[in-house]
Amino acid sequence: MIEVEGLTVSYGAGRRTVLALAGVSLSVAEGELVAVVGPSGCGKSTLLFTLDGLIPPTQGVVRIGGQMVQGVRRDVALILQDAGLLPWKTVLANAELGLRIQGRRGDVREVLEELGLAGFERRYPGELSEGMRRRVGIARALALNPKVFLMDEPMANLDSITRQRIQDLILKLWQGFHFTGVLVTHDIEEAVFLGQRIFVFSPRPGRLVEVVENPEVGTSKYRDSAQFLARVRHLRQVLVESGT
Ligand SMILES: Nc1ncnc2c1ncn2[C@@H]1O[C@H](COP(=O)(O)OP(=O)(O)OP(=O)(O)O)[C@@H](O)[C@H]1O
Ligand SMILES: [Mg+2]
Repeated sequence: MIEVEGLTVSYGAGRRTVLALAGVSLSVAEGELVAVVGPSGCGKSTLLFTLDGLIPPTQGVVRIGGQMVQGVRRDVALILQDAGLLPWKTVLANAELGLRIQGRRGDVREVLEELGLAGFERRYPGELSEGMRRRVGIARALALNPKVFLMDEPMANLDSITRQRIQDLILKLWQGFHFTGVLVTHDIEEAVFLGQRIFVFSPRPGRLVEVVENPEVGTSKYRDSAQFLARVRHLRQVLVESGT
């Protein structure tokens, strides 16, 4: 579904060039949910931006569904690192924004209900908790009924209970909607809970240093299993050994 070959991305020009990603190759199968971990500034958001067509590769190619990514696609949705809500628009208008930008119509109320936001349609982001704002960001992306769902730290800076709730929600949505998902996270437990494979990146310029297989994702009570703890320990060790 997603194929990345020799992806290099640099920002700026001349002496001020910053190399963000260096020669990254990876692929994600249709319907697979993967996690991307790596230190701050290693190019995780940059990877998602190129997958979403917002930033062109400096070198290399990115293909989705066999087609080169050139600009934003209707079947790919991105949740931005800070949810990216417009404070002057209501919950409903924010959730509809993605559809509107694409010139599409659709009913987001069902999605809002699914995410526990029914009754808050007319509220503004400033009137919501941080966890609710994140869910509005998820609703906006989900309303597009995307084939590919790119998530940039959708749970960062949330308390651990809310974080777990949203993790459970993402798992449930993935099991229900069968999208192909790429989740960027700083959190090791979260990567193990949601990533069938976990891509580990080096410090900037980001290179793919290791892929941890984690096929138990989505199995019953995985978070409470001994297998889960063992995988968390393994991933932590990989991160230490790779100097990240
Ligand atoms: N618009 C930009 N102009 C110049 N440099 C940039 C720009 N955006 C990002 N960078 C540089 O590219 C590198 C990768 O940035 P990116 O945001 O992809 O990292 P990240 O892994 O998402 O970090 P974090 O975990 O903190 O979100 C950073 O080191 C940053 O210095
Ligand atoms: Mg980032």
